[in-house]
Amino acid sequence: MIIQKNTDTKWWKNFIIDGYVQTLEETNNQQSDHHWWQHAVIYQIYVSSFKDTTSNGMGDLDGIIAKMDYIASLGVDAIWLSPFFESPLEDMGYDITDMREVDPTFGEIEDFKRLLAIAHGFGIKVLVDGVWNHTSDQHPWFVESRKNRDNPKADWYVWADAKEDGSPPNNWLSAFMGESAWQWDEIRQQYYFYNFLPSQPELNWHNRDVIAEILRQAEFWLNLGIDGFRLDAVNFYLHDKHLRDNPMRPDNGIFPDGVDPDNPMVDHMFQYNFCRPENLEVINPIRELCEHYGDAVTLGEVTLCEDSIVLSGKYVTGDNRLHLVYNSALLVDEPISATLMRHILTKVQTHFPDGGQCWMVGNHDYGRLRSRWTGVNAEGQPYPDEFYHAFAALLICLPGALCLYQGDELGLEEAKIPKDIPKDKIEDPFGQALYPMVPGRDGSRTPMPWSENAPHAGFTDGDEPWLPIPKKHLQQAVDRQNADPKSLLNTWRRLLHWRKRQPALVRGNFNLLETEEPLLVFIRQWEFQHLLCVFNLSHNPSKYDLSIHGEYVAETDLGFEFELEEDTLKLQSYGIFFANLCL
Ligand code: BGC
Repeated sequence: MIIQKNTDTKWWKNFIIDGYVQTLEETNNQQSDHHWWQHAVIYQIYVSSFKDTTSNGMGDLDGIIAKMDYIASLGVDAIWLSPFFESPLEDMGYDITDMREVDPTFGEIEDFKRLLAIAHGFGIKVLVDGVWNHTSDQHPWFVESRKNRDNPKADWYVWADAKEDGSPPNNWLSAFMGESAWQWDEIRQQYYFYNFLPSQPELNWHNRDVIAEILRQAEFWLNLGIDGFRLDAVNFYLHDKHLRDNPMRPDNGIFPDGVDPDNPMVDHMFQYNFCRPENLEVINPIRELCEHYGDAVTLGEVTLCEDSIVLSGKYVTGDNRLHLVYNSALLVDEPISATLMRHILTKVQTHFPDGGQCWMVGNHDYGRLRSRWTGVNAEGQPYPDEFYHAFAALLICLPGALCLYQGDELGLEEAKIPKDIPKDKIEDPFGQALYPMVPGRDGSRTPMPWSENAPHAGFTDGDEPWLPIPKKHLQQAVDRQNADPKSLLNTWRRLLHWRKRQPALVRGNFNLLETEEPLLVFIRQWEFQHLLCVFNLSHNPSKYDLSIHGEYVAETDLGFEFELEEDTLKLQSYGIFFANLCL
């Protein structure tokens, strides 16, 4: 590795590594045409709900270390940790007061270093959450910024004068509050801009000093040896400099995807307070910085937008944008069917010419896989258990990376938040603000059930977990599913370990075949492996003629049942078939 003085004309490079950039010579992974993250399965750990080792009812870094063997047993490539940084925890850590400090609730920096070393020892990469769109209003940067209009950080956040009548500068609405995205500040006698909670002021990404400082924060974690960042709300970084009003949404029945239609923000087009086209340029330094650290990855969250597949594709197209992105592609409200999947897959292929799609079916914001798609299938029936096994198989066969949210491997349902729950029992500030209109996010954040019979399912030995664990989750506890070879957990394990051994799934291209409902059929191919993947995405049995594929060897080790009559494949409800084609 050569360290050289930066002579590049790109201004941000002067901020990287104290005025120097590293040019990776022999280790430059860009030389290779394949990177670990292109096909990575990333397990999302919601730290507060994973495992508590201090009896305070909240999960912590040591809890993750204690369960590293479990994580490794899944066969995932990486973990993404939700924020564990210093924070008043008003938005569960997405409101940071120091991006380099570990919040005492979760441990200390030495715990993180141990976690990183142990994860690496297991061959698991570690992504941390880069929450760089906003900070807590208690962050020292904001405390300084709000002091007056001419301090060194005066322009680090987005400040604007009131209109003549004292009202906010424009019509922008906050995603969480359902009201103006401007908060009046008595000290500065100005409004400041926030997209989420009033206690989460937006950083001003038009200010180069802000970007430079964010890069320094990122470097801190990269220097510790992390393998990348999940970039929180990356499509929110830049706002319209001219503070133009958002247009009202036309009454044409078209809604942005991944947003609750009851959220007042939907009344406006998502045009000026976020999702700005110029945002695509400010992400470049982040990728460059990560690439100075070998093959560290950037995984962007692009979800609140008019069309999240179209916009997120732009975030990963070309060499100077992000590596990976997740969107709301599979967070749709329609029942899953072969036609819908074909539509989504074709659209993703069109808008991701360079790859970079990271499939996401559940997370701490969007709820659980098990409770998705209105709960009933295209035939109007509740999805049977087999569906979730089949869907796991489908997900691991899709081209690109995949995020698996803790607990979704167990098939946990979203915990029901009773409509009459007292407001102060809701932990999620979004759920509180729009109570009772939207259910909020507590239902997908309940603690992991480790053990069916242990107090608090083995999550904590304290008095109470921070969110109640639904009784139903106990039947799906890890120890119970470990003991059942046919459990969903063991299906996920089998599939993920199998995937690693299939070059066509890891590196292969993707060829979607024309088939009628209810079949989804595609071939993944890499060099000599041509893997045929057939899914019956219906409650009813279905048949498929294999004769068009010539010779094949059926995959029988995964435990999925099928019948063959000559070359006619018969699949039961949500049946699956894999075969290596002999070409
Ligand atoms: C995170 C949320 C958080 C929001 C504001 C996101 O998109 O995933 O959990 O509330 O950003 O930081």
